[in-house]
Amino acid sequence: MTTRILTGITTTGTPHLGNYAGAIRPAIVASRDPQADSFYFLADYHALIKCDDPARIQRSRLEIAATWLACGLDADKATFYRQSDIPEIPELTWLLTCVSAKGLLNRAHAYKASVDKNVEAGEDPDAGVTMGLYSYPVLMAADILMFNAHKVPVGRDQIQHVEMARDIGQRFNHLFGNGKELFTLPEVVIEEDVATLPGLDGRKMSKSYDNTIPLFGSAKQLKDAVARIVTDSRAPGEPKDPDNSHLFTLYQAFSTREQEVAFRAELLGGLAWGEAKQRLFELLDNELGEARERYHALITRPADLEDILLAGAAKARRIATPFLGELREAVGLRSFREQVQVATEGKKKAAKAARFVSFREDDGFRFRLLDAAGEQLLLSIAFADGKAAGQVTKRLQSEALDLHAELNAFSVRLDGEAVAYSPEFSTDAERDAAMQRLREALAPQE
Ligand code: TRP
Repeated sequence: MTTRILTGITTTGTPHLGNYAGAIRPAIVASRDPQADSFYFLADYHALIKCDDPARIQRSRLEIAATWLACGLDADKATFYRQSDIPEIPELTWLLTCVSAKGLLNRAHAYKASVDKNVEAGEDPDAGVTMGLYSYPVLMAADILMFNAHKVPVGRDQIQHVEMARDIGQRFNHLFGNGKELFTLPEVVIEEDVATLPGLDGRKMSKSYDNTIPLFGSAKQLKDAVARIVTDSRAPGEPKDPDNSHLFTLYQAFSTREQEVAFRAELLGGLAWGEAKQRLFELLDNELGEARERYHALITRPADLEDILLAGAAKARRIATPFLGELREAVGLRSFREQVQVATEGKKKAAKAARFVSFREDDGFRFRLLDAAGEQLLLSIAFADGKAAGQVTKRLQSEALDLHAELNAFSVRLDGEAVAYSPEFSTDAERDAAMQRLREALAPQE
């Protein structure tokens, strides 16, 4: 079985070398694992919480999309999309908001930090706190639960949010799952051994410290940044201490083992800092040069990027749309027309009630037939409109069933045409039992 790995990238800044080594590079490597089913997305709704500058939001989305693709993310294998292209996510956010305890969100670190700051400054505790900031973890829970992710790789500051997604998902399962796990509960993954790169001044590389090395600036910008790395004042010829040099740490993050050993020996042998910087520049330029060219090619073709991301969104929605239909059904937002309770008369019959759930997909309208436990008995073909789908569900309940075994599944036919299919079964006996269950579920009630 594959593992679904999902993570979001908030689109507020321009990726730097620290983002590359700490997040982008390991995520792309992970996405190449044949066992991995990766979902990577631009968290642009989250970006709106932190930034009210439309131009900056737009630029950052473009830059981040181009960066991931230039660094080698295969958009055919991974599912790569913008959060804001998936309308099911805000819709799910509301369903989750309705089961999220306010007390839980009161404890979110980001919100608490704002409150503490306000209190310290003698302000109203909620001064400047928007509902976006407050509800941030619910939106993030929707991102994760929408796709039933198993693993969520994030930085340490996000652990609490993934735990909240578990809490909220669990609560929803409990309230509406009818004994079934509607949502997979996600696990957080903290990559212990990925590099947290030091910045120019030796502190963690971060935009907020203004100590970053640009990822895809020109070669000259890269060179200038490397020249600004702070070193000690040892003169050329004097031995340098690699283990106390963040220039060496940066080198190590991109070099092979042999290059690292050789560089260490050179530093111990008195290599001048100027030379050392030249070595680091060459290493980085070599690692990033090709990707930089791809990046600039992509950035100049924004329409192509748009197409790639829209294709990614369509792929994601093939999962999100029917799943949201199931969730709406679970909470009681059901169609008046097509949802037919097979057994509405009498409590005894209700025990074996099966129900039709219809939903809309890119290719048309479909329905599922679920048994009383919520297990899927049938999934229909796509119909041109909801009415056609509704007529078929009515006929299935009133006419004799025409079932056909097809390999390890079976179809239901009307007028000789298959209109719905069962799930796949591992044995013929299971398939035959399911055919029998279906007959019972749809048997006309006396
Ligand atoms: N909040 C995350 C961050 O700032 C980004 C994010 C949004 C995310 N939705 C997510 C990460 C879902 C993992 C899963 O880093």
